[in-house]
Amino acid sequence: MAGPFSDIERSIFAAKEVLSEDHQPDKILERDEEIDEYRHALQDVLFGRTPQNVMLYGKAGLGKTAVTKYMMEALRDEITERPDADELHVHELNCNGKTVYSVVRTLVNELLPETASVFPKRGLSTSDAFEELYAQLDRLGGTHLVVFDEIDHLDDVDTLLYELPRARSIGHITNSKIGIIGISNNYTFRRSLSPKVKDTLMESEISFSPYDASELRAILDDRIDRAFVDGVCDDSAIARAAAIAAKDRGNARQAIDLLRVGGEVAKKRGDDHVDDSHIVEAQELVQRGRLRNRIRDQTQHAQLLLETLAYIEQRGDTPTRSKTIKTRYEDVAASHAADPLTTLKSIQNHLSDLHMLGFLQRSGQNHGESGGRYYEYSLDLDPEIVLDIRREIETERDPR
Ligand SMILES: Nc1ncnc2c1ncn2[C@@H]1O[C@H](COP(=O)(O)OP(=O)(O)OP(=O)(O)O)[C@@H](O)[C@H]1O
Ligand SMILES: [Mg+2]
Repeated sequence: MAGPFSDIERSIFAAKEVLSEDHQPDKILERDEEIDEYRHALQDVLFGRTPQNVMLYGKAGLGKTAVTKYMMEALRDEITERPDADELHVHELNCNGKTVYSVVRTLVNELLPETASVFPKRGLSTSDAFEELYAQLDRLGGTHLVVFDEIDHLDDVDTLLYELPRARSIGHITNSKIGIIGISNNYTFRRSLSPKVKDTLMESEISFSPYDASELRAILDDRIDRAFVDGVCDDSAIARAAAIAAKDRGNARQAIDLLRVGGEVAKKRGDDHVDDSHIVEAQELVQRGRLRNRIRDQTQHAQLLLETLAYIEQRGDTPTRSKTIKTRYEDVAASHAADPLTTLKSIQNHLSDLHMLGFLQRSGQNHGESGGRYYEYSLDLDPEIVLDIRREIETERDPR
């Protein structure tokens, strides 16, 4: 007997997961030069030598993580054919929200034998963690490639990047080899490293540049066949998604998101094709989703400051000085029962970070010798969207 679901067929998507964030493509397109540099940096692994350290830079969505996963897989495969190569261990870690201690601890726990008790969360120092790491590396032997993705999120990255690459030359390890791969989408990160760390990481720097529309098209074309039911996605939709993302920041993630959300829009409307009108509608949804994630990634104080700036913006009182912002921010913090930052300096530091991240505009004001120089800030986003997103985040945090 026909049930209520029996007549539902796949209408738009054949395999939507192909357009999801965690889908790893089998093929990497349009990154031949970067792959070539990567190949060169890691080739020593094939001959049982210590590999170079690699640092990847480039803005969001340019394929740094995807290319790295692809290279690690390819290296693992190749090793099996190479008699001179040592056993290869690849460790992929994401540093977002982590400390150096917790990152080293995770690494140690990956290496420990199954019967050993895990390395403790608290009570030991970072140097204890490094010591245990070296002991485990030498116990296992072989070559270890450690990928630190989003490495700019670590607070004391100098320690990590000074210690690990030198572990062998200093004599901390003798029976194993280690190579570091750092990934960052923050260009100011490089400047923040100490000169001695920069020297080691300069061994191989691979820089990822934005994709143009035709490169994005190639990346999208490769997924369309599998993601959508045959013939459902119009050429005009693909071209539009590629053009929008190319004009923005050349971000492949954005282009893929536009297609997925465009497909969802078509489905919701009951249309049987995805065309460029669906992609245009998807654009705002994708933008909003991306902004939501970026705001959610900020600390609570940074979020409260954004909310404050949105209120000030709505009243037409921007640009405005940090002193004025501080007063209004204290009210906003109180409305969320949050303890506010107390010094003007700490507020200014947050405002400066938010400016660097592109959330705020900043202008310098010179008020003669007596007035001194100060900055004025305004919101570089639609205040209504910021307030909506903040409301969503607060409701999730405290659903009442
Ligand atoms: N050259 C490519 N070929 C196929 N897919 C790609 C390519 N570049 C990027 N992608 C896809 O685009 C999306 C974003 O890429 P990825 O996650 O590697 O970006 P990223 O540079 O690591 O960005 P972030 O700095 O934000 O982490 C992923 O879904 C990835 O599979
Ligand atoms: Mg990444």
